[in-house]
Amino acid sequence: MQKIVNKNSNGLSGNITIPSDKSISHRAVMFASIAKGNCIIKNFSKGKDPHSSLNVCKNLGLDTEFLDETTIKINSKGILIQPQTALDCGNSGTTMRLMAGILAGQNFDSTLVGDLSLSKRPMKRIIEPLSLMGANIKSNEFKAPLNIFGNRLNGIIYNSKLASAQVKSCILLAGLNAEGITTFTEPYTSRDHTERMLKYMGANININGNSVSIQKSELEAKPIEICGDISSAAFFIAAGLIVPNSKIILKNVGLNPTRTGILEAAKMMGADIKILDKKTISGEEVGDLEVFTSGLKGCTIEGELIPKLIDELPVIAVMATQAEGETVVKDAQDLRNKESDRIKAVVTELKKIRADIQETPDGFIISGKTNLKGGVEVETYHDHRLAMSLYVAGLICEKPISINGFEWVSISFPEFENLFTSLQS
Ligand code: S3P
Repeated sequence: MQKIVNKNSNGLSGNITIPSDKSISHRAVMFASIAKGNCIIKNFSKGKDPHSSLNVCKNLGLDTEFLDETTIKINSKGILIQPQTALDCGNSGTTMRLMAGILAGQNFDSTLVGDLSLSKRPMKRIIEPLSLMGANIKSNEFKAPLNIFGNRLNGIIYNSKLASAQVKSCILLAGLNAEGITTFTEPYTSRDHTERMLKYMGANININGNSVSIQKSELEAKPIEICGDISSAAFFIAAGLIVPNSKIILKNVGLNPTRTGILEAAKMMGADIKILDKKTISGEEVGDLEVFTSGLKGCTIEGELIPKLIDELPVIAVMATQAEGETVVKDAQDLRNKESDRIKAVVTELKKIRADIQETPDGFIISGKTNLKGGVEVETYHDHRLAMSLYVAGLICEKPISINGFEWVSISFPEFENLFTSLQS
C-alpha cells in the first residue's frame, strides 16, 4: 500500500492517548500462559506482533477470551501442551526469542517459524546460551526455523556481549525452568519489563546492577494493565518537536527508565517536553507528555543510552535533520539486525529527501538543519518503524512523499494514522 504524506502547515494540536506497549503485551500473554490460574490482561496491543505471541500461546493450549477489543481473560493450567503445528511468530523477534526460552525446557518438542524478515534475523545470540543450559535446538545456520527438542535445563552464569532484552528475557525464562541458579549479565541495562513482571508474578528473581539471577519458580496469575508504548509515542514526540507551531499532549505513555532514552536524547537536543501526572500502573511508570515545537541542536547518542532508545533511532534521525549542527549516533551496530538493516535503510531513504546523513559501521552522522525536499517515492523495507519515521519526515517535506509498503505499520501500531489525522486541523 502506498501512502502519500503532505506537508503540515498549521502545526499539530490536541490530545491523544498512546496505545498499548508492544513489549509488555508480549510478556503479559506469555507469562500468563505459564502461570496457573485466571487473570485479566487490560489494554493488550492491537499490533500484529503481540497477536503472534497470543496465537503461539493458544497453539500451546492457552485458553483465552477477548472481553472487548483489548481486554483478554486468560484461563491457564500453568502448563503448556505439545503443539499440533509449527508455531508461527510472524514478523516478531520478541515472540521467537522469548518463546524459545520457554520451550527449551518443556517435556515436548516444538518448532518456531517466522516470515521472510524474521527468518533472516540472527538466533545464535539465544541458541548459544540456551545450549550451554542443555537445550537441544536445531536451526538453519543459526536462523529460523528453530526445532526445539525439549530437554532438562541447568542454570548458567552468562556474560552477554550484547545489551539485548530479548536475549536476557529468553535466558531468564529458560532459567525459570532450570535446575540451580541462572545469572545473566549484560554490558548495559536493556529494557527490564521481564524482570518487573516476573517479580510481580512471584518468581525468585534478583537484580544486581546489570546482572539478573533467577531460580526455578512457579508463577502466580495476576491481573495486568498495560501502559502506552513510548516507542509509539516517539513518532508523535518527534513530530511535535519539528512540525512548526505544534503543541500536543500524549497521554498514558510508559516511562520505565530503561525505555526513556528518547526523552534523554530530546533533552540533550534542547527539546521542550513536560511530563505531567506521573504514576505507576502494574509496576511500570506512566505519565502524560506535553510536547511543543522546539529549536533543536545536534548531540551525540552512544553507549548505555543506545538500548534505552534502540527502536527510536530511525525517528531520531528524522528529528536530527531539523537540529542545528551534527548529531552522531554510535554503538548502534545491532540496528542492522532489526526488522531491516535500519542503518542502511534510514540513510538511503533520508538521502532521497535530501537529508545530510552519512552511514557509519555502527550508526550515522546527520548535519542540520536541512530543508527536506520530498517529491519522491520512499521505501519501508517491510519495516514498521521505517514506515512511521518516513511519515513524520513527510510532514515537514516541501513536496509530498509517497511511502511504499505503508501497511507494515500494523505490525506494532495500527492506530498510527488515525491518531496523526486527529492532531492535524
Ligand atoms: C524488545 C527488545 C529490543 C527491541 C525490540 C523489542 C523486547 O530488541 O528492539 O523491538 O520486547 O524485548 P533487543 O533486545 O534485541 O535489542
